[in-house]
Amino acid sequence: MTKQTIFSGMQPSGKPHLGNYLGAIKNWASLQDEYNCIYCIVDLHSLTVRQNSAELRQNARNLLTLYIAAGLDAEKNIVYYQSHVPGHAQLAWILNCYTYMGELNRMTQFKEKSSKHAENINAGLFTYPVLMAADILLYQAGLVPVGDDQKQHLEICRDIAVRFNNIYGDTFTVPEAYIGKAGARIMSLQEPEKKMSKSDAGTENDLIYLLDEPKAVISKIKKAVTDSENQVRFAPEKPGIANLINIYCAVTKKTVPETEKEFENSGYGAFKTAVGECVAAELEPVRRRYEELTKDKAYIDSVIKNNAARANELAERTLKKVSKKVGLPLEI
Ligand code: TYM
Repeated sequence: MTKQTIFSGMQPSGKPHLGNYLGAIKNWASLQDEYNCIYCIVDLHSLTVRQNSAELRQNARNLLTLYIAAGLDAEKNIVYYQSHVPGHAQLAWILNCYTYMGELNRMTQFKEKSSKHAENINAGLFTYPVLMAADILLYQAGLVPVGDDQKQHLEICRDIAVRFNNIYGDTFTVPEAYIGKAGARIMSLQEPEKKMSKSDAGTENDLIYLLDEPKAVISKIKKAVTDSENQVRFAPEKPGIANLINIYCAVTKKTVPETEKEFENSGYGAFKTAVGECVAAELEPVRRRYEELTKDKAYIDSVIKNNAARANELAERTLKKVSKKVGLPLEI
């Protein structure tokens, strides 16, 4: 039986954090044996917000290196830059013509981002979900492992795919979101009502970066905002502790009741130490491997080149099929 295809991606804007890891990358690594996995650095998406060019280019390379350091095998999976496969932009244009303004107007991330970047509400920001749909549909992916915040984008992607299939007959696989339980929405350590986010952080203590040293990880978790009850209990009115329980469960694979039981006789101090230590232990090998990989420029260059070629080959197949259906010329 042929394996199902998985597609996911991450923007190379800013430094990746624990939410990106627990909501996405950690799940990606666990799926690589069972599926054909394609993991993209979605650099075209990052252009919807103003970037420093040199930083963006460097961040993209760092992120690709980090994918590998976090356990994504660059031969088994395809790890590549979105901008190296022109098919993404080409299919996005075609799908733009099958997407309604009303649908895009309902996207909460567009509303949030346009209020944050009021000086630059560009058309790319508005049609961002169409490019994301193109990313996924280009590879006929059946499953898309993402954090909770991408749910709405997955829904519009499915709607576009179904609409296209209804008009032209079976063309695209209609993908499902794969959202893990524990790590799907990691919150800020200082403002636990808000999502942990690279673009929305108030201070360095809000988030744990994947490349933070163990000391920094432990110290940031010690400083995490909690409440005065001093009882490790998962409850909506205790967002700080609920977030730490979530983090602990996502890393250790324990359940919430198991965690509550484990710490029923400890106060927040001991619990925070345990959370800090397990996160530091999880991230330390990634950080070390990353340090090593950055020294091997030739290897990273070869991964970038070979994987772009593999991705292009797959993308071409779907593009040919779509071009034929919509009436574009087939060969020059
Ligand atoms: P991005 O770059 O914002 O985030 C990458 C992944 O990390 C997840 N994530 C989180 N998970 C848990 N808690 C958090 N605090 C947290 N913050 C981020 C995101 O859900 C995501 O899975 N639009 C996407 C990138 C994208 C994409 C795609 C994803 C473009 N095309 C096609 C999947 C398929 C984005 O901006 O993710």
